[in-house]
Amino acid sequence: MWRSHPPASRDSASGDCRGVCKAAIAPVGKMALNGCLMRWQELEEEYKGLQEAHRQYKQKLQEVTELQTSCSASIRCQKQKLQELLVHLRRYQTKASAEELDTVKALQQSIKERQAVFFDMDAFLPQKNSLYLSLVLGSINVTLLSRQAKFAYKDEYEKFKLYLTIILIVTSFACSFLVSYRVTDEIFNFLLVWYYCTLTIRESILISNGSRIKGWWVTHHYVSTFLSGVMLTWPDGEMYQIFRSQFLYFSLYQSFVQFLQYYYQSGCLYRLRALGERHNMDLTVEGFQSWMWRGLTFLLPFIFADHFWQLHNAITLFKLARHPLCKEWQVFVLAVTFLVLFLGNILTTLRVVQQKVQRKTESKSKIR
Ligand code: COA
Repeated sequence: MWRSHPPASRDSASGDCRGVCKAAIAPVGKMALNGCLMRWQELEEEYKGLQEAHRQYKQKLQEVTELQTSCSASIRCQKQKLQELLVHLRRYQTKASAEELDTVKALQQSIKERQAVFFDMDAFLPQKNSLYLSLVLGSINVTLLSRQAKFAYKDEYEKFKLYLTIILIVTSFACSFLVSYRVTDEIFNFLLVWYYCTLTIRESILISNGSRIKGWWVTHHYVSTFLSGVMLTWPDGEMYQIFRSQFLYFSLYQSFVQFLQYYYQSGCLYRLRALGERHNMDLTVEGFQSWMWRGLTFLLPFIFADHFWQLHNAITLFKLARHPLCKEWQVFVLAVTFLVLFLGNILTTLRVVQQKVQRKTESKSKIR
């Protein structure tokens, strides 16, 4: 190929220039190659180190997996034995003397505390997924192995709720006051279905990681998904139009309460993290408790108003269902669903408050 180039053109570059080029290229070329070789040697050394580190990493992973299996098995075994012990104690309690009764009670208390410790231990061990998670995600392990990772996931869950709450406030406001089309209502309801569905998945993962979310709040999100799904299928008509505004105002208010809730929940999360304390509320978290009570006292009236609005929705829908023009099955189903939400929410909120008051009294009596 090079022969096709006329010699003149190859010589067109001056001899000097060619010489300079030759002189410059040759050492640079050599240096570049030498440099590459040196670089390769360095990389080889680093690679050997990396290979060793990775071998150690895999070995440690293997050790961790073995430890996880043995810890899980021991915890299971201990739990079973404690359960049997509790049954024995309960039987013995009936025929125990007054002195023995004290011992039995102390033992029962210790067993309860040990079970709580096992709950915390389990949060750091791989768990079998719940049926729902298995259906949605398959048999993937969702247990996060460090406190930081758990905190980051919970923090992200709260932020996800905040962003979606803001979007829901904007869309429900737009549907209430700016646009009145069936299609925008459908988009809003579809957004609600997707939001609540996502929450159920995230909350199931949080529970697998040791979160103490009350079962009802997760159920509440399943029921809400169902409710929004039914709203989505409710055909436009006189009945729909009668309830439409009430539902949209309610959604707007509920999103506002969720917005307030975010500040309370994330405040709890950060304060508990700063204390390095999660669930065992003892005297060291007294400051946290007073902050929590201030937050709760502010939040609870809004939450109860939300619950009673749900009851109001149920009553309105029950009345609509008896209307002579009402033909849609959705009206009655929605009435029942709102009633279920009201009952579940109010009972759980009251229970949460009662438990917190009880814990407060217990910690006060500890001080004395
Ligand atoms: N949704 C999701 N998680 C919740 C929750 C809810 N509604 N309520 C509590 N949790 C979580 C907490 O973040 C905490 O999680 P963690 O173990 O990972 O730290 C755990 O459950 C235990 O919380 P608890 O101490 O029982 O309650 P709290 O002080 O965090 O919150 C209330 C108390 C009353 C403010 C809260 O339960 C609440 O907001 N309830 C009303 C919810 C509602 O009705 N929503 C619909 C209308 S907006």
